[in-house]
Amino acid sequence: MRNIKDESNLSEKKILLRLDLNVPLDNGKIVDTTRIDKIVPTISFLLKKNAKVIILSHMGRPKGKIVDKLSLKPVCEYLKNKINENVKLITTNLKGIETADLFNNRDEKIIMLENLRFYVEEEKNNNEFAKHLANLADIYVNEAFSCSHRMHASIFEITKFLPSYAGLQLNKEINALTKITSEIKKPITCIIGGSKISSKINIIKNLIPKFDNIIIVGAMANNILKYKGHNIGKSIQEDGCDKIIEEIFSLSVKESCKIIYPEDVTVGKNLNGLPEIKELNGILEDDLILDIGPKSIENINNIIEKSSTILWNGPAGYFENPNFAKGSLEIIKKIIKKNKTNTIYSVAGGGDTVALLNSVNAIHNFDFVSTAGGAFLEYLEGKELPGIKALN
Ligand code: 3PG
Repeated sequence: MRNIKDESNLSEKKILLRLDLNVPLDNGKIVDTTRIDKIVPTISFLLKKNAKVIILSHMGRPKGKIVDKLSLKPVCEYLKNKINENVKLITTNLKGIETADLFNNRDEKIIMLENLRFYVEEEKNNNEFAKHLANLADIYVNEAFSCSHRMHASIFEITKFLPSYAGLQLNKEINALTKITSEIKKPITCIIGGSKISSKINIIKNLIPKFDNIIIVGAMANNILKYKGHNIGKSIQEDGCDKIIEEIFSLSVKESCKIIYPEDVTVGKNLNGLPEIKELNGILEDDLILDIGPKSIENINNIIEKSSTILWNGPAGYFENPNFAKGSLEIIKKIIKKNKTNTIYSVAGGGDTVALLNSVNAIHNFDFVSTAGGAFLEYLEGKELPGIKALN
């Protein structure tokens, strides 16, 4: 895999820089800037080499439609201030943009194209769309490890049309994860939470042979509770997961991997509501499960205590409302406590998990923090990620 830092002749070259600027937003405000902050050295490097930068990114899951609240505008504004350079956001239809429309002004060095997922072609890995993007530049750089599990036009197909390189951070991330997976110490526990149920539930099965314990929390656990016959009220869940859950439980027995899911929960009547601790048989039709309960916290902390390695991806609850942050915060506290005694190697990953750790200033108390969520888990599965394969 060629890295852009080893390319000597970048002067005046136009670089298509694929980033993952998919940061958590709340009413148009950026909640956590880690993903943007991390790529600043890459932009500085390219500018120093006198290159012109065209930033590509997605935001959220607009499914091929223009969704105003998923515009990259706030990200562009933040980046401008952060690097003290002008960044021009192009919001006109991407498919109509020509090379001649970009960098007309000699002082213009950085351009950002609006959310790629406003175009259905992006997620379809459309060849024409990729070719059109590629025509705007001379070189392609993938600096989005966290999106490299997606076979999308700006990650995969585009590499067919341009000399393609890995970015500075992408290599760092892969090296760190390779080290972790090859030097792992047992017992090893994986905590999987968050709300991207469909992205993660299939991965669990493949992780089972590699782990001693898999702890399922967050919205994903709702599907398990429902499968086990509990009422989950109006909590988030996804249909059609029963078969995979059945496979998860039967494989876990064969592979001696313990699957742990909440024994009690904290519910609210809505996302801004007040917390109420409930036993699993006490959940009402109008309840929303928004966190794990105290018995679950105790059980999880006992497992962490006995683990030598912990990998964590996805919060335990809706931590954005402090009423439902207790489960996630107690897990953080426990990991930090154990880390201080050097008895655990701790790795966390994913946009929301990073935001959670930052919200309590805990990011430096973990041995390694990856900005990647789904990509991090798929990498752990041992899968070759399409974005990395394309660079190779
Ligand atoms: C992420 O947040 O993990 C990446 O931006 C990928 O997002 P996706 O799961 O919507 O593809």
